[in-house]
Amino acid sequence: MQNLNKKLKIEMRPPRMSDLNSCLEMINSLVEERAMITVQKKLTLKEEREYLKKIIKDKNSIHVFLLVDGKVMGNARIARLENVRSHIGELGISIKKDIRGMGFGEKILKEILKQGIKKFKLKIITLDVNKSNKIAQSLYKKAGFKIIGTIKGGVLHYGKYEDSATMVKYVD
Ligand SMILES: CC(C)(COP(=O)(O)OP(=O)(O)OC[C@H]1O[C@@H](n2cnc3c(N)ncnc32)[C@H](O)[C@@H]1OP(=O)(O)O)[C@@H](O)C(=O)NCCC(=O)NCCS
Repeated sequence: MQNLNKKLKIEMRPPRMSDLNSCLEMINSLVEERAMITVQKKLTLKEEREYLKKIIKDKNSIHVFLLVDGKVMGNARIARLENVRSHIGELGISIKKDIRGMGFGEKILKEILKQGIKKFKLKIITLDVNKSNKIAQSLYKKAGFKIIGTIKGGVLHYGKYEDSATMVKYVD
């Protein structure tokens, strides 16, 4: 009862090694609900540690973690493509189920776009999303992304090929 009026501490910042445990908890909860993301098998602490180490030192991607009361509850990433495509960034985003529908997806999306565009001087942002993931498409459309095409059977979702949509946003 005493926590009812407690204000949640919301933070958006780059990943840290100290996020390891809550980050692992988040990714594995997404796997548990079979979310439409790249990771589709629960990770071990060791694998998650390697992943965190890698993203913290990666010079070609930028990550924003959303923390609620110190726990990782969301993440967003933009990875810059290489060479003649280095003006293009690929976007990914996920929010833990418990706090969806509260505006956090939109919040972290705005932040990663702002940081990614500034850091890498991006002109184009792209992403691939499962055709059936209408919630994510709606979020992206709201942020100015447009569907430019569909790849039939373009993404594997727990052993089954599903159609994927490619979405693009041109930076103003
Ligand atoms: C997609 C995702 C990031 C949205 O995050 P969220 O915090 O729930 O989104 P928000 O509360 O900020 O809502 C932003 C917009 O998303 C869309 N949206 C969110 N929940 C929705 C729902 N239940 N039904 C339809 N659209 C919805 C709406 O366009 C909404 O804008 P609105 O509130 O003005 O209608 C989240 O659902 C998620 O992490 N899903 C699992 C992982 C995933 O699919 N990632 C995308 C892979 S490409």
